[in-house]
Amino acid sequence: MATFLNDNKRTHYSGDLRREHAGHKVVLLGWVQGRRDLGGRIFIDLRDRSGISQVVFGPDISAQAHRDADCLRNEFCIGIIGTVKLRSDSGGTANPNLPSGEIEVEASELHVFSKSDTPPFQIEDDVETREEIRLKYRYLDLRRPKLQKNFQLRSKLYRATRDYFHDNGFLELETPFMVKYTPGGARNFLVPSRLNAGKFYALAESPQIFKQLFMVSGMDRYFQIVRCFRDEDLRQDRQPEFTQIDVEMSFITEEDIFAIVEGLVRKMWQLTVGVDIPRPFQRMPYHQAMASYGEDKPDLRNPLLLHDVTHLVKQHAGGGVALFQKTESEGGRIKLLHIPAASAAKLSNTEVKKLDDTVKGMGSAGLGSARLDPAGTGEALGWVQSPFGKTITPELRAAIQAQIGGAPGDLLLFQLGAPRVVNTVLSQLRQQLGKKLDLIEKGWRFLWVTDFPMFEQNEHGQWVAAHHPFTSPKPEHVELLGTDNGRVQARAYDLVLNGNEIAGGSIRIHQRDVQAKVFAALGLSEEDFRTKFGFLLDAFRFGPPPHGGIAFGLDRLAMLLTGADSLREVIAFPKTQHGTDLMSECPNEVSGKQLDELFIRSTAPAK
Ligand code: AMO
Repeated sequence: MATFLNDNKRTHYSGDLRREHAGHKVVLLGWVQGRRDLGGRIFIDLRDRSGISQVVFGPDISAQAHRDADCLRNEFCIGIIGTVKLRSDSGGTANPNLPSGEIEVEASELHVFSKSDTPPFQIEDDVETREEIRLKYRYLDLRRPKLQKNFQLRSKLYRATRDYFHDNGFLELETPFMVKYTPGGARNFLVPSRLNAGKFYALAESPQIFKQLFMVSGMDRYFQIVRCFRDEDLRQDRQPEFTQIDVEMSFITEEDIFAIVEGLVRKMWQLTVGVDIPRPFQRMPYHQAMASYGEDKPDLRNPLLLHDVTHLVKQHAGGGVALFQKTESEGGRIKLLHIPAASAAKLSNTEVKKLDDTVKGMGSAGLGSARLDPAGTGEALGWVQSPFGKTITPELRAAIQAQIGGAPGDLLLFQLGAPRVVNTVLSQLRQQLGKKLDLIEKGWRFLWVTDFPMFEQNEHGQWVAAHHPFTSPKPEHVELLGTDNGRVQARAYDLVLNGNEIAGGSIRIHQRDVQAKVFAALGLSEEDFRTKFGFLLDAFRFGPPPHGGIAFGLDRLAMLLTGADSLREVIAFPKTQHGTDLMSECPNEVSGKQLDELFIRSTAPAK
């Protein structure tokens, strides 16, 4: 085996061979994908990370190699020496579906590095295999061309990131994974300390505090491609360990962060998919995103819009609709999803009725609907096929029509009640119908969402930081801290791409008096905070610079750029929805002795 590689080095990757290589002598190394015996010749597809080339063994080419090739089976790892020929010259036909389809390689020598058992699934893109099997044999799954391409793209993202930040004067610095546990934020994974009985490290959910400390240390511009750990409920776009591109800068404002990030995104898109992303990116305040889309990460490729008509209902004292009036008087919202006539015509009344069940499944009491009279004219079109149609006043109809720019045949889908439910239901409906009605435009729609609320109320009615407690409030809102928390806006921003939050960050607090006011607004004494973040507060006694930053979800970027529908397609060894690794069978049990060493006793029910 050693001799083959001593004497021969790979000359080309299989998938790179083209017409112009005809006549070249090549050495190819890779795996057998399919073997066919035809007319005394043996054909195989030889796969490596670039793709495949057809290799031919024949008694006329090399009797020895032809004999050797008889044993070849799928996934044998081999090397061949051969000559590139045009398929058309040897009486064959080109395969237009294959980049190397115009050529084949006539093999004069074969070397088998290792044999393979029959693989548990066919290693080809279009072969359907259950995901559990693919994850169990992930190393084989990763041989599939699609995944190979995903990871080649992912690798380009690292390169674009490193080149960009180094070119822009950033230092690449590392921060610890094993950190102090601090309550709040995402749930942490804990690591017991053998050397400190009864004590635990937490795995860092992000380098947040450390990157701020770097600013105190005068590092000025920091970035890191860093693994983060969060013990969250998992979804298609969430993994318990994921990768951030983490950034922090001193002496900056939001505009500096936006400029740096937009430059990075442009570079990434150029390098990975060859697309020029126009700058500057669109911006939208949080309240507008919630009003028009019902969510803070709207997919702008979807043209459907929500409208809040609560104020109109109020102006018209309910406008003849008892349910509207009741909702308004109880402090609820009346919102609608507006579907213009051309799309509305594709939704039959039966389908609209079925949406009632859909929204009930989302926690809504039901869906109200109305069509603006398709045969009508004027500024107060009648509402047909609507529970509100008979009683609603022409004045309210006219007011709503004017606000939404309604036209005959338009469909209005209503949600009434608590803002949170109304927005959740309508935003999901907007997404579903956008897809169903084929309204999603092509392309990359980036959006900065800005002016986030500083605080939100948890289920117990307590104020908690919406981003994290070091996020700076807007200077003009500092005076509202503690007295009108709900109105305080933060200097926080998210970057959204096609309905996905791909990055989030903020300008941080660097003045002690502001920090103290934020703690107070959260109902925490400085003492409380000292026990959690004492070292950061201490550091902030020593001349912290104004600073701010952002972190990208690199896996999400890779997912969107490759067109994958799950993070599992762009993370080499991902976890399942249950947080398990099916290949290595982790997490697993450990011995009582190991637990004793860590001063831990398990209360898990015995199996
Ligand atoms: P945040 O919590 O918003 O901010 O995270 C930044 C970005 O990381 C991605 N992300 C995830 N990706 C995959 N799986 C997950 N479980 C997951 N959780 C988050 C998202 C998100 O936009 N320290 C702050 C950043 C800052 O303020 O500078 C932070 O971590 O794309």
